[in-house]
Amino acid sequence: MKELNPTLKKLVQQLNDGAFHSGTSLGEALGISRNAVWKQLTQLAQQGIGIESIKNRGHRLVNPLILLDKHKITDQLSKPITSMIETFDIFASLSSTNDYIKSLPRPNLDHLRICVAEHQSNGKGRHGRTWFSPFGTNIYLSCGWHVACDLSELGGLGLVVMIAVADAITKITGTEGFKIKWPNDLLFNDNKVCGCLVEIQAESYYDAWVTMGIGIDVNMKHNGFPIDTPWASLFDITQKYFDRNVLIAGVLNHLSEYLKLFKEKGFSAFLDKWQNYDYLLSKTIEIACADKKWTGKMLGVDKTGQLILQDVNDTISLHSSGDTTHVIK
Ligand code: BTN
Repeated sequence: MKELNPTLKKLVQQLNDGAFHSGTSLGEALGISRNAVWKQLTQLAQQGIGIESIKNRGHRLVNPLILLDKHKITDQLSKPITSMIETFDIFASLSSTNDYIKSLPRPNLDHLRICVAEHQSNGKGRHGRTWFSPFGTNIYLSCGWHVACDLSELGGLGLVVMIAVADAITKITGTEGFKIKWPNDLLFNDNKVCGCLVEIQAESYYDAWVTMGIGIDVNMKHNGFPIDTPWASLFDITQKYFDRNVLIAGVLNHLSEYLKLFKEKGFSAFLDKWQNYDYLLSKTIEIACADKKWTGKMLGVDKTGQLILQDVNDTISLHSSGDTTHVIK
């Protein structure tokens, strides 16, 4: 677990304009030696951040980089979520933001714990997969929520998280066309942009500690990365770099509002929104869950967020978990 290094933060701020800066001028601005500047630059390069260094010109960032900044995020949060947050932690590197949140004590009822990291060394995807989490480019955000709910009422929660992300991203990027592939993938033109991992500990009656982990590909460029699903970052989609602090605040503002509504009214309050985002609707799909598979036409979701499948014999089945694929005939 590493905190953000303040010197590194200042260095990135100096380099943010994309221009070349000499080692001497950087050292002066940061109050450190040229050698120390070099060490910090090496640290950045080791994290995969592109740095161009040219003799007699200095150093520059190959791509814009705005680091995560707790105050920049919290300044943009709405009043309702600000009053719900009990802790807000930000790290340079963590094993997994979800694991970190789960290791913390539960906050008071209806309160949240938030954590974001620049990098995850063991980012977790659904079904034991790995979530590729390079430094400084994407969003790794986890939100822990202590809620008085029975486990059976939390079925549609993952879909609600994805709707909150989709609404926030649509608004901030000014781009329409994001779709949600049941249960937890946000897609743009068939490519995955965001995934969500919801982990629930509900030990006693009407008391749950929910960790909602959100990974969004933001400024990442295609560079031979080990990702087996077709993916696109927000940069790919818009040809723009995004300040992740703005996106995180936007996602959290939507999420807190939707969590309240979900608690009061359940998933049925989100059915209209879901219909706009449903990627699989009316498609022939396959659902895989453990060692079982079902094929049929996706008819939508019910008021608890379960997927409705119609097989070739017109038999209807409801599904609350699994991996879905669009079967192209
Ligand atoms: C998936 O699509 O398989 C889910 C991906 C979830 C990734 C996020 S990144 C933040 C949080 N921490 C993790 O270890 N995983 C989730």
